[in-house]
Amino acid sequence: MEVQKAIQQRRSVRRYKDAPVEEEKLTLLLEAARLAPTGSNTQSGRFIVIRDDKMRTQVAQVSHDQKWMKQAPLFIACVADIRARIPSGELTLDEQSPQLELKQCIRDVSIQGEHIVLQAEALGLSSCWIAWYTQNEIRQVLEIPEDKYVVAVLVIGYADETPAARPRKSLDEIVYHEKWQG
Ligand SMILES: Cc1cc2nc3c(=O)[nH]c(=O)nc-3n(C[C@H](O)[C@H](O)[C@H](O)COP(=O)(O)O)c2cc1C
Repeated sequence: MEVQKAIQQRRSVRRYKDAPVEEEKLTLLLEAARLAPTGSNTQSGRFIVIRDDKMRTQVAQVSHDQKWMKQAPLFIACVADIRARIPSGELTLDEQSPQLELKQCIRDVSIQGEHIVLQAEALGLSSCWIAWYTQNEIRQVLEIPEDKYVVAVLVIGYADETPAARPRKSLDEIVYHEKWQG
């Protein structure tokens, strides 16, 4: 599938068929993250593959109890490891953390996450980004140390709905030329 088609037909899907994601496809999804660009090639992303029923239930619960999530057979938690940029010293990361390096890591892991999403689309899978949780709660469920930041959980599976395209601003509204024109 062409990149253009994957970009245009992707939707956030919130109903999934009861069908697993094949191992070969999972490997391609993770490869898509691995091959993504990152600032200074720091590669701070770590990816937790979650397929267990109980774990998916707990992740959905701490994501404001979005029950529909559990229909998807596969979750990939996209975690930023700031140690790629700040190797040592005490650090606690949460929604208020000011570090520039954390912002850089979140940026990079987001790019990796979108690589996964577009690769999923190209493989006939669908997905939805999830970021409606607190660091504290999601870290506890996934046993992630306090110096890591959960950028998103991607829920992935075979769609059982075909949502229409959601509205977007026009190019006129979002594109400026040569300098800021707000
Ligand atoms: C970072 C991020 C976090 C999101 N978190 C959630 C979420 O917790 N629950 C949800 O149902 N959708 C979530 N979404 C999906 C957005 O609501 C969706 O992308 C937006 O409404 C546009 O729809 P579309 O993806 O179908 O084009 C998230 C999307 C992004 C990019």
